Amino acid sequence: LKEKTLAMIKPDGVEGDYIDVIKKTILASGFNITQEIQLQLNENTVKSFYAEHASKSFFSDLVQYMTSGPVLIMVLEKANAIADWRDLIGPTDSNKAKATHPKSVRALCGLDLQRNCVHGSDSPQSAVREISFFFEKSSSGFVSTHD
Ligand code: CMP
Repeated sequence: LKEKTLAMIKPDGVEGDYIDVIKKTILASGFNITQEIQLQLNENTVKSFYAEHASKSFFSDLVQYMTSGPVLIMVLEKANAIADWRDLIGPTDSNKAKATHPKSVRALCGLDLQRNCVHGSDSPQSAVREISFFFEKSSSGFVSTHD
């Protein structure tokens, strides 16, 4: 049964020129990329996307980081896409990823706890919310709601 998840290459990943290697890893791991768009996120979009973190001490830093440059947003599809993409990217903290998950995407391109180069939906509910946050169905197929 195919499943979809939202993947994002964050500003540090785009800036560090990791788009090609991450996409190759995604495709080599059996995912299809069914939608993609490069966007410069604004403050309101990031605040809304990360609303569940609004009360955290790192929230304003997170907003600043996520608006610091363009991101690449993708919808990935395969069986078990949500859990498999989370496994592939590794732990949130890039330093932990380097120590314990050396083959993970964050070990490859993440810088620290905040600048961890990629995002992945953490549950089926999040995946539905995050995909429809950035994409909607129209007569011409999927279109971005944020450009
Ligand atoms: P992500 O899992 O995409 O979603 C929340 C983001 O907030 C996370 O990646 C990191 O970029 C950032 N983040 C999470 N925890 C912390 C923290 N303790 N300090 C700073 N940034 C964090």
